[in-house]
Amino acid sequence: MARHAALPRPARRELQDMTQAPPVGTALFSLAGKTALVTGAVRGLGLEIARGFAQAGATLIVHGRQPADVAQAVQQLADEGLHAHGVAFDLNDHARVAQALDELQAAHGPIHVLCNNAGVRDRRGLQALSMADVQRVIDTNLIATVHLCQAYLARLPAGCAASILNITSLQGQLMRDADFAYPISKQGVETMTRAIAVEYGPKGVRCNAIAPGSFATAFNAQLLDKPENQARLQRNPLRRWGQPHEIVGPALFLVSDAASYVNGVTLTLDGGYGMSF
Ligand SMILES: NC(=O)c1ccc[n+]([C@@H]2O[C@H](COP(=O)([O-])OP(=O)(O)OC[C@H]3O[C@@H](n4cnc5c(N)ncnc54)[C@H](OP(=O)(O)O)[C@@H]3O)[C@@H](O)[C@H]2O)c1
Repeated sequence: MARHAALPRPARRELQDMTQAPPVGTALFSLAGKTALVTGAVRGLGLEIARGFAQAGATLIVHGRQPADVAQAVQQLADEGLHAHGVAFDLNDHARVAQALDELQAAHGPIHVLCNNAGVRDRRGLQALSMADVQRVIDTNLIATVHLCQAYLARLPAGCAASILNITSLQGQLMRDADFAYPISKQGVETMTRAIAVEYGPKGVRCNAIAPGSFATAFNAQLLDKPENQARLQRNPLRRWGQPHEIVGPALFLVSDAASYVNGVTLTLDGGYGMSF
């Protein structure tokens, strides 16, 4: 007892929580009573994640850059019987990001789950890129994510358990020829994931990442069909690209109570591609 009394406050709270009955079965994955914000959720992997969070019971906030895209995504979810709120802002407009977080918190209370999914892609080598090109990718994928996390965590009420999920990329870990800026930005987000996990774990915030391999979203399915990608496909132990909905299970796991002791990890989601050579 005396040893527990000497522990810092969050650890003591953790010990007390252990005396309560933990959720079991599918309740482990429930987001009921939680508010979740997913960035870049108007299409692609973000929309899949958003749909999965809403199906798990979260109060969902769909983010996009363009108001019309957000309205369309919210309507699409409504047509599927899912309720979502929408918010539009450019992640590179830091002042607007801060204002939007204030507005969201005033309207919905604390946001318990933040999924940083939005990102841009640039498949060019070093000499083909201007410094402005490099800056655009790093600014959007890394700096804007750092800024959103900073602004989000600054507003999180003390003692509010929360979970951040960053969508990085297998290409933050494995390099491809003539593909320069994107892997740098994504590796930065992976490192940031661990930095937040360590700094904010004592405050009850977990931070994890998913590093997807190639997913056949509407926007890159054509690219994946190109002949040069067939050899890559044969290296994938599952012999297929990821289907967009296959990100939902891992995302839900990482943000839910099912992963209550998972912090600072990057879950590689690539069908085993990265470990096959
Ligand atoms: N698909 C894959 O195979 C794959 C593989 C590895 C990693 N990833 C990562 O997974 C995430 C989602 O991928 P995806 O293929 O679904 O991407 P996507 O279809 O291109 O969607 C990206 C979203 O991010 C938004 N976005 C980009 N820059 C923004 C900004 N400055 N402000 C606000 N929103 C912005 C886009 O908005 P707009 O529509 O307005 O541009 C779009 O909604 C990305 O981070 C990507 O790097 C994807």
